[in-house]
Amino acid sequence: MNTEQGLRGSYWIETAPGGEPTLPPCGDLAVEVAVIGGGVAGLSTAWELARRGHEVAVLEADRIAAGVTGHTTAKLTALHTLVYDHLRRTRGREGARLYADSQSAAIRRAAEIVADLEIECEWEQAAACTYVENPQRVTQLRAEAEAAREAGLPAEFVTETELPYPVAGAVRVTGQAQFHPVKYLRALAGDLRRRGGTVYEGTRVTGLTEGEPCVLATDAGVSVRAREVIVATHYPVFDRALLSTRLSPRRELVVAGTVDANTAPRDMYITPEQNTRSVRSAPCTDGKRLLLVTGEHFTPGAPGIADVEERLARLAAWATDRFPDLTPTHRWATQDNDSTDTVPLVGPLHPGGHHTYVATGFGGWGLSGGIMAGLLIADLVEGREVAWAGLYDPRRLGSVVREGMSFLKHQAHVAKHFVGDRLPPVTAPTSGDLAPGDGAILRVGGHQCAVQRDDSGQLHAVSARCTHLGCLVAFNHAEQAWECPCHGSRFAPDGRILQGPAVRPLEKREV
Ligand code: FES
Repeated sequence: MNTEQGLRGSYWIETAPGGEPTLPPCGDLAVEVAVIGGGVAGLSTAWELARRGHEVAVLEADRIAAGVTGHTTAKLTALHTLVYDHLRRTRGREGARLYADSQSAAIRRAAEIVADLEIECEWEQAAACTYVENPQRVTQLRAEAEAAREAGLPAEFVTETELPYPVAGAVRVTGQAQFHPVKYLRALAGDLRRRGGTVYEGTRVTGLTEGEPCVLATDAGVSVRAREVIVATHYPVFDRALLSTRLSPRRELVVAGTVDANTAPRDMYITPEQNTRSVRSAPCTDGKRLLLVTGEHFTPGAPGIADVEERLARLAAWATDRFPDLTPTHRWATQDNDSTDTVPLVGPLHPGGHHTYVATGFGGWGLSGGIMAGLLIADLVEGREVAWAGLYDPRRLGSVVREGMSFLKHQAHVAKHFVGDRLPPVTAPTSGDLAPGDGAILRVGGHQCAVQRDDSGQLHAVSARCTHLGCLVAFNHAEQAWECPCHGSRFAPDGRILQGPAVRPLEKREV
């Protein structure tokens, strides 16, 4: 992200430096379980399996906890905005109960790990609240409180909160938690190593051949043979079951800064109003707390991404209006995948997959979801019965029917780009039109090129075709990145992958 004067990127990554990265494997490797992805889902799964005595290797394309997990707001809660009333209508009361059970089990698991391993990760117990300011939405909140209570959560409807502005109503669930996600995951990775597991950073997995064993190809030039493979890459990089048709990427912005500790809210808040606003605070320096405000979500690569700076300004203005003593210090963006039926996809990678698993579609609740996925997949690998398995099973029957409009809407969005992106652009700027920091799709030698001019005036040109499935990327000026509207892959101006599902960089072009 472009940083304004004095504003930095992810606070979590900045305050938990990773030291020297671990290296890719120096030769071909054979392990029992290979986990692709070193975020919360991947490391939690790897740790659960290592704890049970399995031989595990984690393969991470970048640094562990540096992707979505390092950019989250780090709320650990089973209250996911307004999910329970929706679930009891779409999955029945039992489905809602299983959801609450499984997410609560994840929070308990994290608490146990923090206590057992004595992890210093600023763990704080807090209540989670979903609130509205519009009185017309109070009925919806009352229904959510009732559904969450029915599902087994200690939920109540309240009209007073500690927020410094009035709310019309809120669902409040006690016994939830917040923490520093990168400190937690680094400690978990350390314990994984102590248990004989291995973490390879800078190792992008580029191919998967299923079999007994499965064989992974990597960009480090080595192959990894594994009996079991877990794809925990946020958006799945391998997708024989076309899960991409049931996942929509969503990008969200975060503004953080210090406030007086006496004015900082101690519980965690979210409202679906105003394009979502989420608020929490974290310990910071003496007498201060870090306030994190999240919101202004948008589809990466979609029309309108040019206004990310505007969205950031709107979010910062909202935050300083509500918390006048806020001094912004950091801003960053995060990316989530929403499943079309709102339930994550965790379990076998495809209907014929006996040794491959996936964890994705956490819809912005990846901390409890990722830890839950670790518990669930570890049990599935060992052939145990798990009560929640059916709820999260990516092969779940009837989901397309249940997903209905949401599924069709996402397909229409992707189809529009598959077709529309192949038509010539209406405007035809030239590289001379680009100011420093600008980017545009230009036609060069009959090819569509993604061209960016950096601050020193140098042009960087790459193919504008996303290497995942060929949609046309668009430029996010605020973050200086090329983004794909179809499934959310993101690339640096020089074509490097910032975020999958693409596993190959954009090809270089001459301008
Ligand atoms: Fe799928 Fe670009 S991310 S086509």
